[in-house]
Order: sequence, then C-alpha cells, then structure tokens
Amino acid sequence: MEESPTPGMPGSALRRVFYVSLSRTEPASVEPLLERSRANNRRDGITGVLLYSGGAFAQLLEGDAPAVAAVLARIAADPRHTAMRVLLDEPAQERLAAQWTMRLVQEDGADDLLRLLVQTAGVDVGRARQLLARMTGLSPAAPAAP
Ligand SMILES: Cc1cc2nc3c(=O)[nH]c(=O)nc-3n(C[C@H](O)[C@H](O)[C@H](O)COP(=O)(O)O)c2cc1C
Repeated sequence: MEESPTPGMPGSALRRVFYVSLSRTEPASVEPLLERSRANNRRDGITGVLLYSGGAFAQLLEGDAPAVAAVLARIAADPRHTAMRVLLDEPAQERLAAQWTMRLVQEDGADDLLRLLVQTAGVDVGRARQLLARMTGLSPAAPAAP
C-alpha cells in the first residue's frame, strides 16, 4: 500500500520546512486533500507529516530543494487554509519522515502547542522544534493511514 518515495539524488540539497496555518475547510475534506497530496508527493519525492487539530494545521515537508519550493508555493496559494506561518526552513542532512508521503497525525497533547504557535506573533523556534518532535514521534491518526 505504502510505497517508498524516490530518495533524493546523491549530492542534491535536502530542504526541510515546517509551518502552521489555520484551516478554512471542513474536517471531512482533509482526507481527500491528503490522498491528492500523497500522490503528488510520491511523484515529487516529498515526505512529511501533517497535524490537523482544533482547526489548525502543522506540516513538515522535506525533499529536494526545488521540489519543496514548488509544493510550498502551491500550498501557500491554497484557499483551504490561511495565516500560514513558516516556523522552520532549513537544509537537512536526513529526512525525519522518510517512510511517509504525508503521514496524518492527530494528538490532543499537541493541541496547546499548536494553538500557541498559531497565535504567537513572530516565530518561537524552540517551541516549533518541540511540536515537530512530537509530530514525528506520534502514532498515525488512523491505523490504516500511511
Ligand atoms: C494544509 C495543506 C497541506 C497540503 N499538503 C500538500 C502536500 O503535501 N503535497 C501536495 O502536493 N499538495 C498539498 N496540498 C495541496 C496543494 O495546496 C495543492 O492544492 C495541490 O498540490 C495541487 O495539486 P494538483 O495540481 O495535483 O491538484 C496541501 C494543502 C493544504 C491546505
């Protein structure tokens, strides 16, 4: 069911981006959005994790720098969410979510942190890394969801 995404070419630069945003879509629309995203990400060699909770998103995207730039531009222009704030944007040595074309997680424990990051003006890098660590360590929202 789950396929390994194409790994980056040797020598290509890996880019990691982590952002938060506010959802403008119904919960029922998240699954179709994910289906499409996973197909695209498999094609583009993008891996990551999406947290959807309390009407807000947090998303980790990682892949070859040009592929990440392209998906980020599409996501930034997507009217299904708003108030997008990039918390981390950095070169990476390795993927944190190498097996996931886009893993969906839902975790009540991460809610407060997510809300804080969405509401706080400016970027709190320490808290952003805290949330990212929680997301990459969490179990999937649904057992069957990759
Ligand atoms: C919160 C959120 C996360 C998204 N994540 C991805 C993603 O990981 N990959 C992707 O291709 N599109 C993602 N999208 C959808 C893009 O904004 C865009 O609709 C899509 O890439 C267009 O692809 P299509 O031309 O195949 O329809 C996301 C959208 C939202 C609102």
